[in-house]
Amino acid sequence: MGMIIKDEAKFYYLTGLRDAHAMETQAIELLTRQVERLENYPEMEAKLREHLEESKAQRMRLEEVLNSLGESHSALKEAVLGLGGNIAALAHTAAADEIIKNTLANYMFEHFEIAAYKSLHTMAEYIDHQPGAHAAQANLLEEVAMAEWIDHRISHTTVAFLDRATAGVTASH
Ligand SMILES: [Fe+2]
Repeated sequence: MGMIIKDEAKFYYLTGLRDAHAMETQAIELLTRQVERLENYPEMEAKLREHLEESKAQRMRLEEVLNSLGESHSALKEAVLGLGGNIAALAHTAAADEIIKNTLANYMFEHFEIAAYKSLHTMAEYIDHQPGAHAAQANLLEEVAMAEWIDHRISHTTVAFLDRATAGVTASH
């Protein structure tokens, strides 16, 4: 950072970093809620637990970048994500097909994260802030891997759900 950075670009870059930080907070909340509920889908549970830890590390990466730019920790804690309402609607605790709805929502959420990190990475490159570019790229690669994992599990999870539902055992979670 320095005098070469245009104020406008820096402003939107910081906004992007804060939004990504808030996005990971939402991801952590969603994943925490889901893994607490899961009982009958051990592979899904294991992967979500893994991505939960990954998401905590992603948020930490963003925090380090933000702190290096003078952003205080308390300001981040108070930040509210604009799409919070949409994300709240992604919680499907009561649904009979909870595992299906959560899988679709997680797939959607991962793609939102992918788009967010692509944009953030571009902004970091635009103002030539390499620590931020590295953080965005690292997070992006993990979201892409997670999105691909979910993609490959959609059919399997649906069959597993239908098998349990038709067998008359707990299928929802
Ligand atoms: Fe993430």
